[in-house]
Amino acid sequence: MEPQFWTDRWKEGNIGFHRPSVNEHLLEFWPQIDAAPSASVLVPLCGKSLDLHWLVEQGHTVMGNEVVDLAVQDFFKEAQWLPKCEPWGALQRYSCGALHILCGDFFALTPQDIEGVSAWYDRAAQVALPPEMRQAYYQQLANLLPVGAVGLSLSFEYPQDQKSGPPFSVEEDELRALCNGRFSIELLARQDRLAVEPRLAAQGLTRADEAIYRMVRC
Ligand SMILES: C[S@@+](CC[C@H](N)C(=O)[O-])C[C@H]1O[C@@H](n2cnc3c(N)ncnc32)[C@H](O)[C@@H]1O
Repeated sequence: MEPQFWTDRWKEGNIGFHRPSVNEHLLEFWPQIDAAPSASVLVPLCGKSLDLHWLVEQGHTVMGNEVVDLAVQDFFKEAQWLPKCEPWGALQRYSCGALHILCGDFFALTPQDIEGVSAWYDRAAQVALPPEMRQAYYQQLANLLPVGAVGLSLSFEYPQDQKSGPPFSVEEDELRALCNGRFSIELLARQDRLAVEPRLAAQGLTRADEAIYRMVRC
């Protein structure tokens, strides 16, 4: 899944992953990951998610990362905020108060670009990536985050042969293997989505669960 794939989707307005409200699992489970109230939070592959606003409202400094400039422009336009924009390493940094969005490839980020981050939030980031990119995603996360950093990660699980991604299915076994030696991982909840989202059954899925994890960089 190259950046051009996502640029095309944003240009076409093909962004069904974007939600008009703050994610319910973020609201429910963020308190359980024990992020310090003053923690800076990395949000990889953030799109124009309203979750960024919620994290700022909790008192966090937020560092979103998004490769498609149009998504970043839309985010600030819709918030009616005028961000400051400056070169930031290999990326561009858009800032407004405690919110920063680093526009550029996640895999080009360096620890210096996000200095001070001690928590992260993954909604529709790891599941946006095909299997061959997930190892690199977790390696890069591990490179970027200091030991002890805590994260909330939302995963999606379904029989992959019933539908093509994104979103891809990332089952617990695979996630544990990806995290091995990098992150400790605790399942906080698993919820059946078929019952509440009839469109999933209409797509031919016989199982669709959302799994919510607390992770710690070890
Ligand atoms: C499925 S969307 C999820 C967006 C957001 N997390 C949300 O919950 O709405 C994945 C996002 O990751 C961005 N993306 C894909 N590859 C990326 C990369 N290598 N670096 C940074 N962003 C990337 C896409 O442009 C897209 O906005």
